[in-house]
Amino acid sequence: MEYLENPFTPSFGEVPAHLAGRQQIIRDLDRAFLSQRRRPELTSIFSGARGTGKTALMSSLATRAESHGWIAVKTTALPGMLEEIELGAKRAAGHLIDPSNHFEVTGLGIAPLGSIEVSRVHDASTWRYRMSDIIDQLNEAGTGLLVTVDEVDPTLNEMIQLAATYQHFVTDGKRVALLMAGLPNNVSTLLNHKTVSFLRRAQQYHLGRIADYDVREALIRTIQENDRLADAEGIDRAVRSISGFPFLLQLVGYRAWDLTSDSKEISSRDFDLGIKIARDEMDDRILAATYRELTAEDKRFLIAMLDDEEESTTADLVERLKRSPQQVSRYRRRMIDAGIIGERGRGLVAFELPFFRDYLAAQCVK
Ligand SMILES: Nc1ncnc2c1ncn2[C@@H]1O[C@H](COP(=O)(O)OP(=O)(O)OP(=O)(O)O)[C@@H](O)[C@H]1O
Ligand SMILES: [Mg+2]
Repeated sequence: MEYLENPFTPSFGEVPAHLAGRQQIIRDLDRAFLSQRRRPELTSIFSGARGTGKTALMSSLATRAESHGWIAVKTTALPGMLEEIELGAKRAAGHLIDPSNHFEVTGLGIAPLGSIEVSRVHDASTWRYRMSDIIDQLNEAGTGLLVTVDEVDPTLNEMIQLAATYQHFVTDGKRVALLMAGLPNNVSTLLNHKTVSFLRRAQQYHLGRIADYDVREALIRTIQENDRLADAEGIDRAVRSISGFPFLLQLVGYRAWDLTSDSKEISSRDFDLGIKIARDEMDDRILAATYRELTAEDKRFLIAMLDDEEESTTADLVERLKRSPQQVSRYRRRMIDAGIIGERGRGLVAFELPFFRDYLAAQCVK
């Protein structure tokens, strides 16, 4: 038997064969893209820790929007994003808009990039008019413009400009949609920004862990649809080790598949070994990156949680950290927003990011 192509997608931003556990969100958005009347989901914000599938979800939603006739422009919150949106919209909609009347201004391909571009990007009002023009033409052609913004960054001026301008477009009754995704801390800072307070009324989706049931289904379907079988016990162990974490689903599947990709079945031994390899990679790629982003105080807070088997009470943490209850609740909130810990009822928190607890404990010993 020849080697079968590996159908798992353990790379960042790659849309998986099956988007496990996101059916409801996809249904909501499909409905919004298809509806003639404006639905609130057309302005949605996705937040989640690293590897929870924000980029993959937005990318898949953009593709769906396109299949429903929308023009989609995908961007990341970085300097130059406004320019990118404008150029992207023109390129994607080239067949619908008329360049002769409206866009002689742009000779970007000819003009040397530099001062002109910079002054433009910062000139929010003219950007707004140019975009307004593009969107009007799209709307006249019976379509709308979807912009997706990944890695939202509340400190980026253009991010705020985009949100504020978008609000005008909505108020003017234009057919536009804005999907944004980012780490929970960044999303909550953005939502608290006073210039764009309307964003607080946007639809918010928190991408947390996926139910084991959905993980199992995605694993089995990905394997079977690609002409192999999976050992039942192996699948059980894989589901348990994945702990609802999308990135790990892909990684475990990928490693287990590759071990003996010339045989019909993925055995329980393949799964065991695949799980082990995947765990090590998860340490390197997710846990280490998350750990590096912590401040010294964040680490102190999390290390104080290690004294508890499972859940920690705020009162105990106040005692251990010798900080005021206000300070402790601030750190508690920060760590919840970062997706590292989660609430478990009144005053209780526990680790949320799979395996982070063990990783942290290992760092303390080093
Ligand atoms: N719902 C899902 N079901 C199965 N696999 C998924 C799902 N969502 C994402 N993945 C996979 O998980 C991995 C991480 O996805 P993605 O890059 O979208 O995460 P992210 O939240 O954008 O991470 P980061 O914050 O680091 O940008 C990818 O390998 C992707 O294929
Ligand atoms: Mg991403």
